[in-house]
Amino acid sequence: MTHADFHKEKMHDFYYKNGELYCEKVPLSKMIKKLGTPIYVYSYRTFTGHLAKLQKAFRSVRPLICYSVKANSNLAVLRTLVKKGAGLDIVSGGELFRAKKIHCQGKKIVYAGVGKTEEEIREAIKARILLFNVESIPELEQINAIAKKMRKRVNVSLRINPNVDPHTHDYITTGKSENKFGIDFESAKTIFVGSKRFSHAQVCGVHVHIGSQIETGDPFVEAFQKILEFIDELEVEEGIRIKYLNLGGGLGAIYSDENPQTADAFAKRILPLFKKRKCQLIFEPGRFIAANSGILLMKAIYVKKTAVKNFAIVDAGMNDFIRPAFYNAYHHLWPLKKRENAPQWVYDVVGPVCESGDFFAKDRELQEIKGGDYLAIMTTGAYGFSMASNYNSRRRACEVMVKGNTFKVIRKRETYQDLIRGEKASA
Ligand code: LLP
Repeated sequence: MTHADFHKEKMHDFYYKNGELYCEKVPLSKMIKKLGTPIYVYSYRTFTGHLAKLQKAFRSVRPLICYSVKANSNLAVLRTLVKKGAGLDIVSGGELFRAKKIHCQGKKIVYAGVGKTEEEIREAIKARILLFNVESIPELEQINAIAKKMRKRVNVSLRINPNVDPHTHDYITTGKSENKFGIDFESAKTIFVGSKRFSHAQVCGVHVHIGSQIETGDPFVEAFQKILEFIDELEVEEGIRIKYLNLGGGLGAIYSDENPQTADAFAKRILPLFKKRKCQLIFEPGRFIAANSGILLMKAIYVKKTAVKNFAIVDAGMNDFIRPAFYNAYHHLWPLKKRENAPQWVYDVVGPVCESGDFFAKDRELQEIKGGDYLAIMTTGAYGFSMASNYNSRRRACEVMVKGNTFKVIRKRETYQDLIRGEKASA
């Protein structure tokens, strides 16, 4: 597939009509008039469209697609995807709470993470989740002991660390030996072979997730081949058959000029590996579904010109969207209104937070920005609001879901009162 072909695929539902930015059929200036800025805007159609692409590409093997809650955990987003057939991949008691709130069936929930606490394990057992993705032997012992106390039996996948380089940012690389995630092959084999000692935890699955924003099929294939060799070895040498094979998430999204594989290309590349395998396949996509589905609208408050820079100072900050600060990530910036023949200038687009890392773009050529203009940071539907904080005592933005020509606030802008909830002035 060429780059051009790829872009023919519909990536999202944000576009210009008569120079004005729309989401689906809603002109965003209308939304701003009503709600102010900053606003996270999501497209229902983009969310469901991306899930459908994966479902379609993999329909021959009927996988369980567990959307990775951490990418965007708003209840309306979760409900939308679960209603369309997704399960959920969770990593904390808080995410389990969200999953239960939207009535996701326990049998469609998988639970990963290296540090599950006793309380979190108990809650997950009560919710009858499908699988714990176990990341260490002490964790497996703990899950077994808790299940025994509760007189319940649980299913467990071992998360394998296959020592494969996904060629992505260091902070989102998870499948190399030096990463804290997963269990090496040798230890995993020992666990499988001695799994009878876990009387209340049935070790019946294998899980692998090597990283995020992976742009080509090669690292996936390398990891999955190693995993399949391992599974075959278990079967041939030990007579152990696994029931679930969880292939994780990690599919890249387009932020600027990347050319990541489409759902179809990914399926074509990896499905041959799994031919004639009887186990249930599971996927945990987050970014692929959510990233293109959201943008962050913000207002330029001031334009400050210095001897060396033009700073466009906006009303959203790194507390609202941390990816540029944290990973030096590139995100497109689109004006709310395109002006014909507007001059182009080079800007640093920065937030109001008291940190020099508080930027959205550096030395970026953009349509001239004047105080009062609005801008959108594109591709912020994944790891946007879900990584937001209250740093500098800033209220977190509101979130809005657009569906056709209607829009709905799915999380209110925080109030100052929200900021101090639970605090006491008397020390
Ligand atoms: N499964 C597991 C076990 C994971 O750790 C993750 C992501 C996923 C699935 C979903 O991965 P995805 O399909 O979204 O690539 N905050 C970073 C990304 C952190 C990813 C953490 N784990 C960012 O903004 O780039």
